[in-house]
Amino acid sequence: MEPFHYHGGRLFCEDVAIEEIVAAAGTPLYVYSSLALRRCLEGYQQAFSPRSHIVCYAVKSNSNLAVLSMLAKLGAGADIVSGGELFRALKAGIPPEKIVYSGVGKTEREMEEAIDAGILMFNVESVEELHVLDAVASRLGRKARVSIRVNPDVDPKTHPYISTGMKNNKFGIAHHLAVEVYRLASEKEWLEVVGIDCHIGSQLTDVSPFVEAARRLRELIGEIEAAGIVLKYIDIGGGLGIRYRDEEPPSPSEYAGHIMEALDGLDHTIILEPGRSISGNSGLLVTRLLYTKEHEEKTFYVVDAAMNDLARPSLYDAYHEIVPVRPPRGNCRKTVDVVGPICETGDFLARGRELPPLERGALLAVKSSGAYGFTMSSNYNSRPRAAEVLVDGDRFHVVREREEYQDLVKGESIPPWLE
Ligand code: LLP
Repeated sequence: MEPFHYHGGRLFCEDVAIEEIVAAAGTPLYVYSSLALRRCLEGYQQAFSPRSHIVCYAVKSNSNLAVLSMLAKLGAGADIVSGGELFRALKAGIPPEKIVYSGVGKTEREMEEAIDAGILMFNVESVEELHVLDAVASRLGRKARVSIRVNPDVDPKTHPYISTGMKNNKFGIAHHLAVEVYRLASEKEWLEVVGIDCHIGSQLTDVSPFVEAARRLRELIGEIEAAGIVLKYIDIGGGLGIRYRDEEPPSPSEYAGHIMEALDGLDHTIILEPGRSISGNSGLLVTRLLYTKEHEEKTFYVVDAAMNDLARPSLYDAYHEIVPVRPPRGNCRKTVDVVGPICETGDFLARGRELPPLERGALLAVKSSGAYGFTMSSNYNSRPRAAEVLVDGDRFHVVREREEYQDLVKGESIPPWLE
């Protein structure tokens, strides 16, 4: 069974009609499929089973506690980039020994929390960070395990905002400086060097940049180990793309095959940090048609979800397929812009899209919204954030309540002189 499918002319998530979920939870609404999440994670686990490996799911792609808790039960670890993500990952039951911490701007407080929790390793992104981490670890009297994030300088051929492994990006340590930084790290009293890391970008649809990056890591491992520094982990990051429209990204098993080949003969544990390829196509954003506006040259479907709910179309001009939850009969189509209520021309979910004529109140599903959807949402225009629902077979649960107006002003107060 496909996780999202039509049955009797209505869109379902697993065995539950989207209309039934909307009746309980309203719109705009994120709906996630357990089946889809499970299949994607297991796809990676099976593909890498010939090797010792840990799938450290990238929490930033979808950090709902229920999603994390389900993935944890299936054996996933986590790739985190903030103290907030550490908090979520631990709360969801992800074992600390399966947590890796990436990111260029870890604060001392965040470092302390992660050392205290006993995470597997910090992916260190700069020499200064290395010094600070050593100092923090010494203050706590507890060693911090580290890997160095190396910038392999390969072009991932993806959107410039989500390319991270080229030499002009802010991420990682330049390839030619890496061995020197490893020497420095290995001399630090409170650091234990355990791995090497890279992440070259996101939504990659071709396997060759991954293979190139893995080969470059392999060369470096040779040099680092020749300097007497022994590594246990090779973290190859995340970034495998998904199909939004007509992309044909490699499957996890193809990807795994190439990576394992590039790293053949090395016995390090492979760490992966997939986010989008697990959560992306496991979720939909459901929205309701508020108004149809016919302008001279254009038709607008004004819906109740906006760029604050799903930023990707406005931010990256990203394509998300949009389908009616109950498609009308017939083949009639019109070209529409699907826009939200926010006061910005950039507030759109789709432009120039062929959709059937729909009545006010009709439901639409914005596909491939499980990754970087809710997690990138905001309260812009004082819009309460959407609810989230997790479906599992014929049951569903509201895993995040829709925000209330009170939530919008939480923590705000009026100074006494204005009372
Ligand atoms: N590891 C690191 C260090 C990362 O920076 C990222 C994503 C991942 C893993 C997970 O990558 P994935 O497997 O999900 O491609 N907001 C953008 C995507 C930003 C990705 C940032 N880093 C979007 O909506 O396309």
